[in-house]
Amino acid sequence: MARPLIVDCDPGQDDAVALLLALASPELQLLGITTVAGNVTVQQTSDNARRICELAGHPEMRVYAGCPRPLLRPLQTAEHVHGKTGIDGADLPEPQMPLQPIHAVQYLIETLMAAPQPVTLALLGPMTNLAVALVQQPQIVEHIDRLVFMGGSAFEGNVTPAAEFNILTDPHAAQVVLSAGIREVVMLGLNVTQQVISTPERIERIRALKTRVGEVVAGMLTFYGKFDLERYGLPGGPLHDPCVIAYLLEPQLFQTQPCYVEVETTSALNLGRTVVDRWGTSHRPANAQVAFEVDAQGFYDLLTERLSCYK
Ligand code: RIB
Ligand code: CA
Repeated sequence: MARPLIVDCDPGQDDAVALLLALASPELQLLGITTVAGNVTVQQTSDNARRICELAGHPEMRVYAGCPRPLLRPLQTAEHVHGKTGIDGADLPEPQMPLQPIHAVQYLIETLMAAPQPVTLALLGPMTNLAVALVQQPQIVEHIDRLVFMGGSAFEGNVTPAAEFNILTDPHAAQVVLSAGIREVVMLGLNVTQQVISTPERIERIRALKTRVGEVVAGMLTFYGKFDLERYGLPGGPLHDPCVIAYLLEPQLFQTQPCYVEVETTSALNLGRTVVDRWGTSHRPANAQVAFEVDAQGFYDLLTERLSCYK
């Protein structure tokens, strides 16, 4: 039976691919999509989420706009990585489907509190929306089956030496979420997502699908890979966010370990670092399953196979 799911995201090319993967996977019952400011403004992430739903043939999908800025830090977007639109390389028309009238935080609270069974949350951007929902209505924790998120790193960051973008954008929100007592938390940080590189060969395999979706994904990944090539010399962009959906579909692709994870929220040098206690030296109980290894080729086989479902 399909597991109920809400995806919170900041499209972003990699968020967009994650949404396409989720929408092509009948194992997942996507209840709704919430958007947040991150890669670009929340207006743009909301437009982009709807563009992707229409591309996927799902204009009926409900998209809810969320928080326009982090809890405390000023919003610092990432157009230098994702382009002015946030999904440069896609070339998609303005969305026609409506944005839902209620705020994403209200949607999260109302949907979780009324859910007949606990819901999986997939977070692909800064955690602001979920943090606000948890502060406003702590009881939603009982209605969250599991939280799988892309963010943080057990090793180095990608914005500062210490911090990854999603967590650094809103470190206070991340700490609220990680300390909320959610029954199952899975962290897919840079230490695994930077293993899934969209090489030219992998992009061409997707382009060879010869579908509109294949063409758009290949275009987005070609644009998106430029930043990582210039900065790290990588042969393509890491497909960070689709790892979350791939974990929901085929968790065996990933190797995880129970760890205590805490977010640095004060240090100037290490602000936003996810301090991952892999070996129990803090003597604090694990609050997350942290992924350390991934079958990258198996990931791309799954992604390409699911994208082939679009005609
Ligand atoms: O650091 C990678 C994360 O930041 C991804 O979620 C990407 O979309 C950006 O939001
Ligand atoms: Ca994202």
